[in-house]
Amino acid sequence: MSDAAINVELDDMQGLLRFGYGRHAEACFLLLRITDRDAARRWLAAAPVASAATLAEPPPVVLQVALSSAGLRALGTPDAVVGGFSVEFVDGMSGNPSRERRLGDIGSNAPGGWDWGSQARLPHVALLLYALPGALADWQRGIEEGIAAGFEIIARLPSHLSDTEPFGFADGISQPALDWQRTRPARDVELQDYTNLACLGEFVLGYPNEYGAYTDRPLLDPHGAAAGLPRAEEAPARADLGRNGSYLVLRQLRQDVDGFWQALTHFAGGDAAGGRQLAEAMVGRRVNGEPLAAVSRTPIEGNDPADALNAFTYRDDPYGVRCPLGAHVRRANPRNADLPPGTPGLVSWAMRTLGFDADALAQDLVASTRFHRLLRRGREYGEHGAGEQGLHFVCLNASIGRQFEFVQAAWIAGAHFDGLSGESDPLLGNREAARDGSATDAFSIPQPLGPARRLDMLPQFVTVRGGAYFFLPGLRALRVLAALG
Ligand code: HEM
Repeated sequence: MSDAAINVELDDMQGLLRFGYGRHAEACFLLLRITDRDAARRWLAAAPVASAATLAEPPPVVLQVALSSAGLRALGTPDAVVGGFSVEFVDGMSGNPSRERRLGDIGSNAPGGWDWGSQARLPHVALLLYALPGALADWQRGIEEGIAAGFEIIARLPSHLSDTEPFGFADGISQPALDWQRTRPARDVELQDYTNLACLGEFVLGYPNEYGAYTDRPLLDPHGAAAGLPRAEEAPARADLGRNGSYLVLRQLRQDVDGFWQALTHFAGGDAAGGRQLAEAMVGRRVNGEPLAAVSRTPIEGNDPADALNAFTYRDDPYGVRCPLGAHVRRANPRNADLPPGTPGLVSWAMRTLGFDADALAQDLVASTRFHRLLRRGREYGEHGAGEQGLHFVCLNASIGRQFEFVQAAWIAGAHFDGLSGESDPLLGNREAARDGSATDAFSIPQPLGPARRLDMLPQFVTVRGGAYFFLPGLRALRVLAALG
C-alpha cells in the first residue's frame, strides 16, 4: 500500500520521527531566544527543514526545528492556540515545584542551577543540526548568520554519535517500531503480550494512539492563516495544527564517569571485574549490549527477528534474579505485561487491561508498558578527561505526561517501582530522600538463593544541567506558526 493510500504524510513530518540520522555523525543543537519577532517569523517560514520522506541518498546536512510554548508566545501565536497544546508542554519542564519533584529535578538537579532551560534561559526554539562527517562547521556558520537578525543563541550543544554512552555501555539498541503502515487494530485494549509495535499516534500527533484515540492538540478554524494545514482525521471540518508533529523532550544529563566506575569498584571491594558486573546489573545489559534477561521463547511483535539484542522480555525472570527489577532498562521499559508473581487470574486481567487497583501502583505500571514508550534520539557530548561529559537526551512522544513524564517520574525516579523500596534508578537517581523521608539511594540485586544483595548510599552519577519541552511541528504547521496571529 502506498503512503498516500494509508494517509501517512511522510513529506510533512520532520525526519527525526523516522530517522536517527545514524550516518550524520556530527550534530549540534542550537538553543535560541527570539529577539525580533518579524525576523524570526521570516526565517522560520523559509527554514530548510528535512522531512521524513524517503530519499535515494541521505542529504549531507539536516535541519530540524522545534519550539517551546514560550517560543510560540514570543512568536505571537494566539493564547487560545497555545492553550490547545498539552498542559505539560504549555507549563514547560521547569518552574512548577510539583513537576520538578516528580521528575527528580531537585537537589543538585534543580533548575535553579541549570546552564539553560529555566526562566530567562528557557529556549524559545531548538534547531537540531545534523551533518555527514566534515560537513557541520561551514553549515552551522551559515545557519548562525541566517538567524542573527531574529534570534540570540543562548546555548550551543555540540553532540556526537557513538555506539556507546559515556559510561561505556552500548546504547541505542532498543526502540519501539512505529506502525507506519497503520495495520495495528485500534482499541486493542486486551493485548497482554509485550509488543514492540506501537501505533503511529503514540509518537505522531493527528493519528490514532494505542487507545484508538487521537491525542489532544490545537484544532483550528480552517480559514485564514490555518488554511494551509491538513484537516483533522477525526474532525474534518477543523484544521489540525498538530498533525505530523510530535513533542520533543530535551535534557542535558551530565555523567560522572570516573565517579561511577570508582564507586562500583569500591562496592566490589576493589575488584574491577566485580565492579563491572555491578554496573551491568544496574544497566540491565552487559557492556556490549547483551541483555541480562533470557531470550523470549515466542517471537515479539514488531521486533526484527534478526535483532537478538532485543528478543527478550522479563517473563521468565519475575523476581529479577537474571536482571534486577530496578535495573535501568527494566525500569525504562518493563516489557512484558505480566504482573509480579502471585497475582491471581481475573484480578490480574483487570489490572492489566483496565488499570484497576490504584493501590497496587507498581503492578499497574508494569501492566501498562505499551502506553509509555519513548522514541529516543539522544546523542553523547564531551570527551573523557576533557571537561564535562554526558548525554543530550532527546525523546519524541505524543503525550509528554503519559510517556516521558510517566517513565521519568513513576518508573525511573519512583522509589516503589515494581514493589521495590528505598531505590530509584541506579544510574539516574538524584539520591534525595522521598517525600515520606525514606531513602532512594539503594540498589538491590536479587540472588538465586537467599536474600538480595543490597548496595546502600549510592552516590549520584548523573546530574541534570538543562531541559525543556518542545513541539516539533509538521512542515506545513511550521509555516502556519510563522504566520499565525
Ligand atoms: C545519562 C543518562 C542515561 C544513560 C547513561 C542511559 C543509558 C542507557 C543504556 C546503556 C541503555 C541500554 C541500551 C538500549 O537499550 O538502547 C538504555 C536504554 C534505555 N533508556 Fe536510558 N540512559 C540514560 C537516560 C535515560 C532517560 C532520562 C530515559 C527516559 C526518561 C531513558 C530511557 C531509556 C529507555 C526507554 C531505554 C530502552 C529500554 C528498553 O526498551 O529495553 N534513559 N539507557
